[in-house]
Amino acid sequence: MSSDSEKNIYILGIESSCDDTSAAVIRDGVLLSNVIASQSVHEEYGGVVPELASRAHQQNIVPVVDTALRRAGIAKEQLSGIAFTRGPGLLGSLLVGTSFAKGMSLGLRIPLLDVNHLHGHVLSHFIRTQADDRVPQFPYLCLLISGGNSQLILVRAYNDMEVLGATIDDAAGEAFDKCAKVMGLPYPGGPHIDRLAAQGNPEAFKFARPRIAGLDYSFSGLKTSFLYTLRDAMRTDPQFIEKNMADLAASLQHTIIAILLDKLDKAVRQTGVRTVAIGGGVSANSGVRAAIQAYCDAHGLQAFIPSRTFTTDNAAMIAMAGYYKYLDGIFCRYDSVPFARVEV
Ligand code: KG4
Repeated sequence: MSSDSEKNIYILGIESSCDDTSAAVIRDGVLLSNVIASQSVHEEYGGVVPELASRAHQQNIVPVVDTALRRAGIAKEQLSGIAFTRGPGLLGSLLVGTSFAKGMSLGLRIPLLDVNHLHGHVLSHFIRTQADDRVPQFPYLCLLISGGNSQLILVRAYNDMEVLGATIDDAAGEAFDKCAKVMGLPYPGGPHIDRLAAQGNPEAFKFARPRIAGLDYSFSGLKTSFLYTLRDAMRTDPQFIEKNMADLAASLQHTIIAILLDKLDKAVRQTGVRTVAIGGGVSANSGVRAAIQAYCDAHGLQAFIPSRTFTTDNAAMIAMAGYYKYLDGIFCRYDSVPFARVEV
């Protein structure tokens, strides 16, 4: 059983699943440093180029880890364990962090802790910058929404999670990004839709909503419906997109939020949990954050909305998840290899 009473446990977290190289240090669950090197090399390609991402991780990892240790004010010999993202993600990118973490753990003779990236997002609510920061009580429901995943997860304990529902096709972030691309917006489109939506009418356009039984999500129908709406309207008015940017963005965001909340509400009713958290890149969306807070307020539930720093990929959440594995004595073997696809 985990206990927060241990003292002076220093965990280094390493995250390299996609296009951010990040390292963080925590002491007894409190964040000391979190360094993120983002890769601008992908911008001109309109998406992440896996080979370029791996090379950039190779260049970034030593200075990023070094800076994280320096900012934490500790020497590497003080570390108690090394946590790293084992997957899901881009294999070449994951290999950089995995190999580095293995080498450092072997060299320092301290435990190696493998972390599922998605569990990191789920546990990001436990990242404390001060010892008395508010954290969720178990059990809680986490709506994990990112560029690659949309999942409803029942979290019973730090190392006990159950996926109740997941997307059967596109993730919520993909819906934002692909629709934004159709509108001619740069990648990733999610933040642009968010900004434009603030000035638009969410009821201006109606898009298809999925009818899927249970707690699974689907966003591919919405994407097609969005594409066809624009294609049909452009036949009569070639300036349609330019003229309706804000309303299109607001209506798209409104539909995505409605789809997310529909299944979340079902999951809350099924499980009876009283605490709801969100995580992943899409949880940075202003409309999503406001809607989750409003839903929780209306139903007397506790809402946990992460600070925007911890919605995107970061090593603080990996260090945090690794810390709880350390406390529970769940260590990683040196012959463990990264995994690219979701493993639950
Ligand atoms: O978790 P994340 O950083 O990494 C991946 O899963 O790749 O999520 C990235 C996703 C992208 O689809 C991006 O467009 C979306 O999060 N995103 C947003 C916002 N900020 C990031 N979507 C909507 N509104 C935002 N403000």
